[in-house]
Amino acid sequence: MKNIKAIIFDAYGTLFDVNSAAEKCKDKIGDKWEPFANFWRTTQLEYTWLRSLMGRHKDFWQITEDSLDKSIKNFKIDSSMRDELLNLYKVLSPFKEVPETLKILKEKKYKLAILSNGTPALLNELVNSNSLENLFDNIFSIEEVGIYKPDSKVYDIPIKKYNIKKNEVIFLSANTWDVSGGGNYGYQAIWVNRNNNIFDNLDYKPKKEIKNLSELIKLI
Ligand code: LAC
Repeated sequence: MKNIKAIIFDAYGTLFDVNSAAEKCKDKIGDKWEPFANFWRTTQLEYTWLRSLMGRHKDFWQITEDSLDKSIKNFKIDSSMRDELLNLYKVLSPFKEVPETLKILKEKKYKLAILSNGTPALLNELVNSNSLENLFDNIFSIEEVGIYKPDSKVYDIPIKKYNIKKNEVIFLSANTWDVSGGGNYGYQAIWVNRNNNIFDNLDYKPKKEIKNLSELIKLI
């Protein structure tokens, strides 16, 4: 992959493990912790898309709370878990290869940034709580444009900020729909396929498919 000026990462599911909050409570939640975590995540994303289509924006933290409340009811989880799960969601763990991979990329002098649905406060807390704050040039939040991915206004944010061409960006996401969104926009989009999933039929095939972020080092 040539002429790359910036490497931009999705946050939730790509750098940080969204299931790690529920996983840390698996003794209390029991065997259903994983379907519960998946339902919470799916509902959260549906709310981002639906609110964007309805023109009724709420920030990602409010959406995370709203989707958790539905999930708690759906899975009959003790509502006393609510605060614990939300606090854990603020300090999600990164996937294990993330810190080392970012350090190597930083030494190669690429612009490194996050582009995420998260609010600036949430993203800063995630990065700081995992001691990753010195590795990013920018943390871009959709709050700057008030609409969620995959609206093209979101993918425009780093292009305008860095004054670079769309195809000078490598964009990485583990979320298939976000790869389709960034790729259709014009990024060179790479799919981080951690769980052997099937890609979408949404007019874009990923430039590359990798199993974890450390495989990116060989591609650039
Ligand atoms: C994000 C979601 C899509 O971080 O994972 O933007």
